[in-house]
Amino acid sequence: MSIRFIKDKKRFVINTKHTTYAFEVVLDHYLYHIYYGKRISNVPDPVFTFLSFAPHVKECNESKSPDLFPQEFSCYGAGDYRPNSLRLSADGTGVCDFVYHSYRIFKGRLDLDGFPAARADEHTQTLEVTLLDEGCHCRLKLYYTVFADLDIISRYMTVENLGDTSVKIEKCMPLTLDMLRSDFDMISFYGSHFNEMHFQRVPLHHGTQSVYSNRGASSPHYNPFIALCSHNATEERGEVYGFNFVYSGSFLDEVDVDQQSRVRVQIGLGSESFSYSIDAGETFCSPEAVMTYSPTGIGKMTRNFHNFIRTHIMPPASLQPHPVVLNTWEACYFNIDEAKLLDFAKEAKKTGFDMLVMDDGWFGARNHDHAGLGDWYENRTKFPDGLASFVRKVKAEGIQFGIWVEPEMVNPDSDLFRSHPDWALQTVGREPLLSRHQLVLDMSNPQVLEYLMKQFDETFRGIEIDYFKWDMNRHMAHVGSMHLPSDKQGEIFFRYMKGVYRLLDWFRDHFPGAVIETCSGGGGRYDLGMMQYGIQIWASDNTDPYYRTRIQASALMGYPAATMSCHVSNPKESLASLDYRYKVAVGGMLGYELNILKMSDEIKSEMAKQIAEYKTFEHVIRLGDYYNLAFPTKYPYSAYYYATSDRTEILLTVIEKYQCPQGQTKRLKIKAANPGATYVDARTGKQYSGASLKEGIVIDLTGEPMSAHLFHLKAL
Ligand code: GLA
Repeated sequence: MSIRFIKDKKRFVINTKHTTYAFEVVLDHYLYHIYYGKRISNVPDPVFTFLSFAPHVKECNESKSPDLFPQEFSCYGAGDYRPNSLRLSADGTGVCDFVYHSYRIFKGRLDLDGFPAARADEHTQTLEVTLLDEGCHCRLKLYYTVFADLDIISRYMTVENLGDTSVKIEKCMPLTLDMLRSDFDMISFYGSHFNEMHFQRVPLHHGTQSVYSNRGASSPHYNPFIALCSHNATEERGEVYGFNFVYSGSFLDEVDVDQQSRVRVQIGLGSESFSYSIDAGETFCSPEAVMTYSPTGIGKMTRNFHNFIRTHIMPPASLQPHPVVLNTWEACYFNIDEAKLLDFAKEAKKTGFDMLVMDDGWFGARNHDHAGLGDWYENRTKFPDGLASFVRKVKAEGIQFGIWVEPEMVNPDSDLFRSHPDWALQTVGREPLLSRHQLVLDMSNPQVLEYLMKQFDETFRGIEIDYFKWDMNRHMAHVGSMHLPSDKQGEIFFRYMKGVYRLLDWFRDHFPGAVIETCSGGGGRYDLGMMQYGIQIWASDNTDPYYRTRIQASALMGYPAATMSCHVSNPKESLASLDYRYKVAVGGMLGYELNILKMSDEIKSEMAKQIAEYKTFEHVIRLGDYYNLAFPTKYPYSAYYYATSDRTEILLTVIEKYQCPQGQTKRLKIKAANPGATYVDARTGKQYSGASLKEGIVIDLTGEPMSAHLFHLKAL
């Protein structure tokens, strides 16, 4: 059993393979968080400190104040002045004070009311802890779902309104972790469209530090993944706590260092763009947050998340080989038509591609980005015989077919908007703000969802689509819904995401033969919620290999390579550039995005060789263990490798950046190599003993532009 209740102490102990998590009921009221860290057999007893100005129940003194001890869960207005987990208004005050009631432990897990959540397997167990607040007539349940083999614990909560009037949740943080220390650095990622995933590592300071989104999408501005690590932590050493949120909308990750220099980490919906009224008898369910702990550096934390995401978050299809796609966007933009794309399909087939993905521009009056979004039927000027006939012709070339959609959006210049202007998010009396000339559809409105389902069903019925690229190209503003009453307007961000997930579920069920790639102007929804639906995510609209090297290295810290689609674009007829771009792109799931009709025979034949070679090691990238050797913001080069779990194959990549110093020799230790094996590099035939790889493979940096090194090492 990974979860135990020790009756005499009223203590809960969760053991995963390498970690222990423990908390205890104190004062028959609170959940005192005792420990999270490396696996131990003797959990210490709670300790209490005394400080003045600390409110407490009348039977105790200041030392037993909820403001002073670590908690599993903290209520607004009830004596804990740190950032709270829940603010719940029954009487307008926001004050709630939940008291421990009971628990149960069961195999598997419960569904999360329409939210994506980690899939259970036969080892998964869940602890449900029930608390009651008679003041607001609500029952709170905290859920701890344990993936013991993977060292992952997930948390979410439900709140049931037992009263007869509605109550309002004004802040909701399903994961709270308190520790009696704060000697950590915080790792997070910030960025913008076209420039995602900048790595940031800074020591914690007193006060609250946070990353967040109020944009209605997890967004490229901050990613929901964060980590706390000891100041001396490296890839292989030091303590690291990793956190993430299985959600794609606005979020808040807040880390607070308090008056006693203790840290509180919280992951959740926050309060700024979230609120929810729970009607009498109704139960609210939050999305879930996940955490892991590594006593042996950042690399182990990364691999814990990678294993977990691959096996419990991503769709099972993502464990199969991903198609190598030729995407039309950077090649043609909106300038597509049947004749041109059939030529693309022919050339793509000859070059060894698995799939042609027709990007934006195929529907409505979509000849530029000012019009057409929302009109999900083929443009008959571009496809005179219709979509079905075109797709049949593509397939006749012996290649699969993918198509771009952006279901959540509408252009004001579209038939959809002209007939349903009230279906866009807007507030009464204000001119809606545009972004990329588009508005956001009100996905909280069931009528909108039903319309979209009907329209997509009509347009795609009977057409063998193998792949949808699901995009989202703006953030929300003037967030108001014409279909919700005024007292529910604050719920739109949350209800919107539920609507998006419902439509994604529908796509998954309605087109079972197709997989989904998700995208939000690139990596604008690079999150665990989207990863439950898509086999991969378009990591960035920026396909410049130098930028991509950094973006990919950062993404890989929290997310496996299987999630990351990486395209070779625009090699400008240069074999060197093609080679460099390829070596960068095989950091993840390879694809191409270039005008194949304009490529020379030499380039096409080189691309064919690349695709064939990639297929010999794609499984190593998709399923292998990832080891980062040199992070490109710290070094003038990026170096990393993937190793299969049986250590028989290793793919090592070294990407030199601009101005990489010439003539430097680097010894890169491949510690995952099997010391008893002999490896041969499938690219050069050169042999290496596993023992020598562990000591280090020597790389001579050339200092030349577009210089990269790839080794596909296979045990003999
Ligand atoms: C976004 C995507 C691109 C492309 C365009 C089409 O920017 O990230 O890959 O699909 O939209 O408009």
